[in-house]
Amino acid sequence: MSATLFESFKLNSTLTLSNKILMAPLTRCMADDELVPTQTMADYYARRADAGLIISEATIIRPDAQGYPNTPGLYTQAQIEGWKVVTAAVKEKGGKIFAQLWHTGRVAHSYFFPGGEVISASNLGLEGNLSRMRELTYQTPKAATTADISQLVEDYAIAAANAIEAGFDGVEIHGANGYLVDQFLHHSSNNRTDDYGQTPENMSRFALEVIDAISERIGSDRTAIRLSPGAYFNIEPDSRDRQVFDYLLSQLEPRNLAFIHLGIFDDSMEFDYLGGKASSYLRQHYNQTIVGVGSYTAETGSEAISNDKFDLLAIGRAFIANPDYVEKVRNGLELTEYEDGMLKELV
Ligand SMILES: Cc1cc2nc3c(=O)[nH]c(=O)nc-3n(C[C@H](O)[C@H](O)[C@H](O)COP(=O)(O)O)c2cc1C
Repeated sequence: MSATLFESFKLNSTLTLSNKILMAPLTRCMADDELVPTQTMADYYARRADAGLIISEATIIRPDAQGYPNTPGLYTQAQIEGWKVVTAAVKEKGGKIFAQLWHTGRVAHSYFFPGGEVISASNLGLEGNLSRMRELTYQTPKAATTADISQLVEDYAIAAANAIEAGFDGVEIHGANGYLVDQFLHHSSNNRTDDYGQTPENMSRFALEVIDAISERIGSDRTAIRLSPGAYFNIEPDSRDRQVFDYLLSQLEPRNLAFIHLGIFDDSMEFDYLGGKASSYLRQHYNQTIVGVGSYTAETGSEAISNDKFDLLAIGRAFIANPDYVEKVRNGLELTEYEDGMLKELV
């Protein structure tokens, strides 16, 4: 029933995946205190190397990108060396792996970078407590100046080059789930009045600058982006966001990216202003490779691919519970059910 998932897939002239199952990016907060990946992380990823492509857990591009404890980085030589161990372990098993590049923007906290400032599109803060450090409350961010924006773009490009040095096959820009890139794309977090605000062209500018700087450094064939056109996490929806994504997707079409990956937890959610599901909206506005995700099983995901809803399927929680997810699905074996308690240990 899930046979489609086991066909190979040519992403472009340089990358062919052995099957259509991606391991979704999954933050596990288990890098060491210098934010260097560990041997335990290498073993964890290597056990999942039979996915067509692994997307690494979100990996910060510089210190003020951090909003969760012990998330790995890609800006020091020690972090690059740590990732080399991970990518080598995945490659030894015949796998492929992209790094997910992350700046949390206003979801960051200066607890992680003492003396530094939290930065975002605008000075519009989140209410409440950090999700994995409940004792901390969100801070009001500083609106990035144009000089800050140029530096951020450069720092994304440097992190992408570092990812290639570390042995990754490419990068996925984390443009989803209410983090920095996404904060520019939604009206509820962007009220700028300069070249980065108010109109779809301006609100898309930062995302496009990041994409172009990275593509220039490592090639568009190795550059992908994750997007959340439907606001559902760390951000309030606004019906005007639709025009921003209409424009952004029209600009991504000719850029020959490796893929666009939807960012969502449950793809049965419908968004009024997108006219239904976020995956259907993406399909209508983008003709190239789309990775679907969000509470799919191998069966429902495979059916969605057969019905041309998207091209590749990312699996998150089931990959935490089942390191041998691909093997189990291939052989029709029963899967272990995911529970939040499993996050305490890297198995
Ligand atoms: C523990 C956990 C950590 C996650 N970390 C990330 C992350 O680092 N980057 C990201 O883009 N999404 C992250 N996600 C979202 C997943 O990539 C995925 O979109 C979500 O789990 C829905 O897929 P699923 O229903 O197959 O689990 C995370 C989800 C979970 C449960």
